Amino acid sequence: MSDANRREPSFSEELEVSGHIIDSLLLPKILDQIITLGGEFDLHDVQIGHSRKDPSYARFTVSAATAEKLDEVLSAVGQHGAAPVHALDCDLQPADMTGAFPEGFYCSTNEDTEIRINGAWIPIEGQEMDCGVVVDASRTRARCVPMADVRQGELVVIGRQGTRVRPVERDRTRHDAFGFMNSTVSSEKPKNVTVREIAAAMRAARDGQGRILIVAGPAVVHTGSRDLFSWLVEEGYVNVLFAGNALATHDIEQSFFGTSLGISMSHGGGIEEGHEHHLRSINRIRRLGSIRAAVEQGVLTSGIMYQCVRKDIPFVLAGSIRDDGPLPDVITDVLKSQARMRELCQDVTFCLMIATTLHSIAVGNLLPARVKVVCVDINPATVTKLADRGSFQTVGVVTDVEPFLRVLVDELQKPTVPSA
Ligand SMILES: NC(=O)c1ccc[n+]([C@@H]2O[C@H](COP(=O)([O-])OP(=O)(O)OC[C@H]3O[C@@H](n4cnc5c(N)ncnc54)[C@H](O)[C@@H]3O)[C@@H](O)[C@H]2O)c1
Repeated sequence: MSDANRREPSFSEELEVSGHIIDSLLLPKILDQIITLGGEFDLHDVQIGHSRKDPSYARFTVSAATAEKLDEVLSAVGQHGAAPVHALDCDLQPADMTGAFPEGFYCSTNEDTEIRINGAWIPIEGQEMDCGVVVDASRTRARCVPMADVRQGELVVIGRQGTRVRPVERDRTRHDAFGFMNSTVSSEKPKNVTVREIAAAMRAARDGQGRILIVAGPAVVHTGSRDLFSWLVEEGYVNVLFAGNALATHDIEQSFFGTSLGISMSHGGGIEEGHEHHLRSINRIRRLGSIRAAVEQGVLTSGIMYQCVRKDIPFVLAGSIRDDGPLPDVITDVLKSQARMRELCQDVTFCLMIATTLHSIAVGNLLPARVKVVCVDINPATVTKLADRGSFQTVGVVTDVEPFLRVLVDELQKPTVPSA
């Protein structure tokens, strides 16, 4: 197209972005996205930090042919931390009913975000994707609120104006699993290095630098690795456990009958009437009232749930349509399960998801992007699904859970070399 025929974009906005925008590739991503979406940019100022630790800064104008196109571009680059230089306060509107947001509500992501009120930026608390943002009456605090929890009259943020995202800055020059993000999905990559990095992250968390959440499915028990898992609980590598009825049921079945779904854990063969074992296990716990009661009365004396009770590790067993029984500890109201999980997620820094699609994706939706997530599953689709649903920070390890846990426990049992 000749210059004379070229239609000048007439809608524009001046943006800025700062932080580790070079190493983490945020700036190239922003510029690429502007072009991909049909916008244009004009860079005015780029200051690159002298050392790797110094933050960088860029200011640029984004233009587009229509207001709608500009809005689309601003929304996309906003997710990478680009915010208007001349920001306005966010729009607030009282919720007109309980249990639903006003139309046009701002929809949160899992990236840390701030909103602008009376000229000041305040962080949104309880960052979580797919929520609305409610501001308290004094207009000094804001929090993510799930749709079902909003109350009539609460002040809700409307639209994207006056919001700015603080994206997780991953150092792409770090050659470990957590630097690359979502890079180890392939079943054909070496796993021992990744497991070593996972062990290091778990050790650091246990030694006071974080909190570990484990989300697990019944394959942990079926594959004969529940004693490895129990060891993790016993040794302090689990601060919170999320699972469903099945993990706890088959763990307890193994303690009572030495089987998992009727299969002997010692010789791998089926046991006469073994298919009833898990029902008899659930029934026994139901008769006592809770898993804790079974431990306190000396009925349950080994396994994952036993260790959780013994070590006072909070757990959520979230109910599902598939559940037998269920165990009395299972929370069958999904919104109540979610609320309890949300509460326990707040200060989690590391999450290991093992062999459950249902619970992994549910928990992925609750965690902010700053939490390191490792998803271990035999099916690559589970990891891909997590990433597709927004938990892009997930490191995937495609493997059978048993060898994974064996190598992880081996790694954690190795003596550590004290740093000089
Ligand atoms: N009897 C019961 O009460 C019962 C039985 C089964 C499931 N449930 C409930 O149904 C819900 C869904 O169950 P779920 O989370 O097991 O199902 P799910 O389908 O969501 O996840 C199972 C995952 O385990 C993976 N997997 C299977 N074998 C593996 C292995 N050896 N190594 C690594 N990964 C492996 C699969 O690829 C899959 O991703 C849960 O709430 C569960 O408690 C209840």
